[in-house]
Amino acid sequence: MAYNSTIIITGGAGFIGSHVVRLFVNKYPDYHIINVDKLTYAGNLENLKDVEDKPNYSFVKADICDFDTIFALMQREHVDGVIHLAAESHVDRSIKDPFTFARTNVMGTLSMLQAAKLFWESLPEKFDGKLFYHISTDEVYGALKMTCPEGVEPPFSTRASSSEHHLAYGEQFFTEDLKYQPHSPYSASKASSDHFVRSFHDTYGMPVVVTNCSNNYGPYQFPEKLIPLFINNIRHRKPLPVYGKGENVRDWLFVEDHARAIDVIFHKGVIGETYNIGGFNEWKNIDIIKVLIRTVDRILGRPEGADDDLVTFVTDRAGHDLRYAIDSTKLQRELGWEPSLQFEQGIEKTVRWYLDNQEWMDRVTSGDYQKYYEDMYSNR
Ligand code: NAD
Ligand code: DAU
Repeated sequence: MAYNSTIIITGGAGFIGSHVVRLFVNKYPDYHIINVDKLTYAGNLENLKDVEDKPNYSFVKADICDFDTIFALMQREHVDGVIHLAAESHVDRSIKDPFTFARTNVMGTLSMLQAAKLFWESLPEKFDGKLFYHISTDEVYGALKMTCPEGVEPPFSTRASSSEHHLAYGEQFFTEDLKYQPHSPYSASKASSDHFVRSFHDTYGMPVVVTNCSNNYGPYQFPEKLIPLFINNIRHRKPLPVYGKGENVRDWLFVEDHARAIDVIFHKGVIGETYNIGGFNEWKNIDIIKVLIRTVDRILGRPEGADDDLVTFVTDRAGHDLRYAIDSTKLQRELGWEPSLQFEQGIEKTVRWYLDNQEWMDRVTSGDYQKYYEDMYSNR
């Protein structure tokens, strides 16, 4: 079949990437979606079981740092667009092993950019109708303070938002024009990659868009991250390692809402622009943890409070950012996107998904998921 567009999605076997691949493969049968993923520990093709046989989906196992392979793929498949999610994504790992983060997140992004640039420049239409969409994080902006108007205690509500439950733990938000102040090796590597992407726009006129999103939660997240790790630990009555006092604030967005935002921005975003993505949904870690305990216990029929004593305060993460809070007004106003789910609905859906998909969790925690690729592709 002749497709209207061929799009590489990097990191499509990871958490957010798998939701983006699923959305695009199902919604756009006239697009050829090529998932390019190295399948690191975080890549799991089982996340894409439901779309792997669709005619408009292909998988290519490749390292984004391998320029020659990526460039040849772009030429062979005549790629029109790139949605770049592949990255090392876990802050704790970046503290132990910063080199891997610089390699993948900085050099890998540069390799993707250079391959796209050289391929598109070789075409008669050059950059016309092409787009390099880079997915980044709110962590590049650094950490916000917890400051309230005089005489007011946090949390307080500052603005009308799509969430009835909007709480704010400070007066300042991350806006698109804020100076970058990354603190962890992870956020420093993402900040660097964002700068490279913008430099390709400013220097070569490459059509790029960058988005910075807040913390995602939902199905298929690797259980090293707070929400899936804690759901699994509560289920198995294992300790819940809360860093510091659990006072840090994160702004949570349901992963399918992020994927929807990516769809909107890929099709309607203005070239050269940056859009922040978030749900105006700030939570202190300790409060989220209480919600998780209550929800898991209720669904499993355990008495209320049965697992409260699993909470274990441990040494804080080095350089732990205090508060993240995204202002996504620009995206909501200019492109009409807004989150579809209230946090309470999203958390209920998420907890139920992990409890209903214990086999997925067991295969990930045992390492068996890594055999899926070999088994599947050796049979073809
Ligand atoms: P993830 O760790 O779940 O998945 C990353 C994917 O990238 C994996 O499939 C992995 O195999 C692949 N990958 C890693 N190194 C690669 C390489 N060298 N070549 C090819 N593939 C490689 O990550 P995620 O949480 O889904 O995050 C995806 C993107 O979104 C990242 O760029 C991250 O910075 C960004 N982001 C994440 C969040 C969040 O809350 N998780 C929020 C904002 C932005
Ligand atoms: O803000 C967006 C970022 O969100 C993404 O760019 C990152 O890829 C993603 O990993 C996430 O980073 P965080 O560091 O905020 O997520 P994490 O799930 O690791 O931690 C959430 C909060 O919970 C953070 O304040 C640290 C704390 N935490 C985490 C773990 C894993 C704990 O207290 N205990 C834990 O065991």
